Amino acid sequence: MLLEIDDISVYYGKIAALKGVTVAVDEGEIVALIGANGAGKTTTLKTISGLRSVAKGAVRLAGRDITNVPGHERVALGLCQAPEGRGIFPGLTVLENLHMGSYIRKGDVSADVERVFSLFPRLKERQKQAGGTLSGGEQQMLAIGRALMAQPKVLLLDEPSMGLAPKIIQQIFEIIQEINEQGVTVLLVEQNAAQALALAHRAYVLETGRVVRSATGRELLNDPSVRAAYLGGDISH
Ligand SMILES: Nc1ncnc2c1ncn2[C@@H]1O[C@H](COP(=O)(O)OP(=O)(O)OP(=O)(O)O)[C@@H](O)[C@H]1O
Ligand SMILES: [Mg+2]
Repeated sequence: MLLEIDDISVYYGKIAALKGVTVAVDEGEIVALIGANGAGKTTTLKTISGLRSVAKGAVRLAGRDITNVPGHERVALGLCQAPEGRGIFPGLTVLENLHMGSYIRKGDVSADVERVFSLFPRLKERQKQAGGTLSGGEQQMLAIGRALMAQPKVLLLDEPSMGLAPKIIQQIFEIIQEINEQGVTVLLVEQNAAQALALAHRAYVLETGRVVRSATGRELLNDPSVRAAYLGGDISH
């Protein structure tokens, strides 16, 4: 497995946000993490990217224990997160935001900028525009583009569809698939469960800090109890 979190528990003060969560992501996969508000999805991604420390358990990347490796070093090892709420720099231009994503790398990054621009032509058109003036969908594209600038082995995406119109959501999901086909492994957190499960090779369902199901995306998509809880109960799909 390329990325493993093994039986991790994470606390905020005395409250356990994760209670022994185990998730594994194989090289080349898209794995989705679904679950209700507060289930622990963001906490799981933050623990993987090194923003939260664990009380118990281990995080491993390509077999190496990185549980105690600081976040900025994990970026250099190939883990990169596009955060929930996007977190772009509003006062910097699109191009400057992209360059911030490659700060850990030396040398010429123009080929990476071109790759991002070919995935997101809209960003190329608006490369001189301030990040803060982009539309919601464009900001999401920028957040993903910036994460790609670090040349991640594993791209961690926290609710890339949040707040976007259906048409833009469709576009973002297609681009995630394209990024994956270019060789980037993806761990995707989504409330938009139907689309995430349709895209993912495998998925995990989190409930109040625990994994309660894991199966292929298709299996979960067709599972009546998952449908009832996360997909509005519609079985006519
Ligand atoms: N900084 C914090 N301090 C205290 N509690 C926190 C903090 N961050 C998260 N929590 C709590 O941890 C639990 C898991 O939160 P988390 O953000 O991981 O959920 P989530 O699955 O991402 O939810 P959402 O779908 O709403 O984004 C929640 O009960 C939340 O209130
Ligand atoms: Mg969250």
